[in-house]
Amino acid sequence: MGSLERLRNSVTTLDDVGAGVERFFQVLNHLNNDKMKEHKRDMEFRNSRQTSSQPRGLLLGREEERKIIVQWLTKPETSASDIALFSVIGICGIGKTTLAQDICTAGDVKEQFYFVIWVCVSHDFDIETLTKKILDDITGRETTMVGLNALHKALKERLSSKTFLLILDDVWNDERYEEWVNFLCPLKCGKEGSKILLTTQMQSLADVAARAVQRERTQQVECQSLRFFGLEETDLLLLLNRHAFFGVNPDDYRNLQQIS
Ligand SMILES: Nc1ncnc2c1ncn2[C@@H]1O[C@H](COP(=O)(O)OP(=O)(O)OP(=O)(O)O)[C@@H](O)[C@H]1O
Ligand SMILES: [Mg+2]
Repeated sequence: MGSLERLRNSVTTLDDVGAGVERFFQVLNHLNNDKMKEHKRDMEFRNSRQTSSQPRGLLLGREEERKIIVQWLTKPETSASDIALFSVIGICGIGKTTLAQDICTAGDVKEQFYFVIWVCVSHDFDIETLTKKILDDITGRETTMVGLNALHKALKERLSSKTFLLILDDVWNDERYEEWVNFLCPLKCGKEGSKILLTTQMQSLADVAARAVQRERTQQVECQSLRFFGLEETDLLLLLNRHAFFGVNPDDYRNLQQIS
């Protein structure tokens, strides 16, 4: 084979490789796009958990659970008890956060408390971070204060003789009991009638939090919990329809409604 022939063969091979690389980049691009979209969806979901605000009319069903929690939150204080705790327990996605958001933005609950504080805890049970988040929520701006002592002092001052409702959403730390006790310390400065509403997937967490709340109390402090189970079938169907027909008129797809 002459040099020219070899050169031609090499160029043809290079051409094939080039075409393959282009396809490879197309696939890579596609995957990246999917990853970006997934990341964006993740961020949107995370953001929606950082706030008590949610679109109007989001909650479906849960009338019974809502009634129990609202009654507990709004009932007049019978004893000069310390801060009380209500834990909502249930598996991932069952609707704990959705109901907590709905409840704490409801007029009758908001009226009951001077402060309604929302903190998304997740796996990050760091006392300093949590105390800072609470303070930020109360003041409406980010505090520049550092150090747990300064933060605790500031929080005690803010809460002193004020009734508050603190929502601790999605809590996981069920091992470090002492940290719980330390975290709760400044919260006990709130006025009687102050309450914590906690959501978690773990019964053990609700038990640890209740123990920490009750520590060193002469009186029995009220700690209650409620386990969430699945939605009623009619509400599940409404939820499915809401997502399946998002952005279109469901009446245009009556045949699909039958299938669902
Ligand atoms: N009762 C409901 N009405 C309307 N939407 C609901 C309801 N329950 C759950 N959802 C929807 O299901 C999704 C998951 O709900 P949510 O985040 O409240 O669950 P969760 O129990 O807090 O889960 P996790 O333990 O993972 O925090 C949300 O997007 C929410 O919109
Ligand atoms: Mg949640």
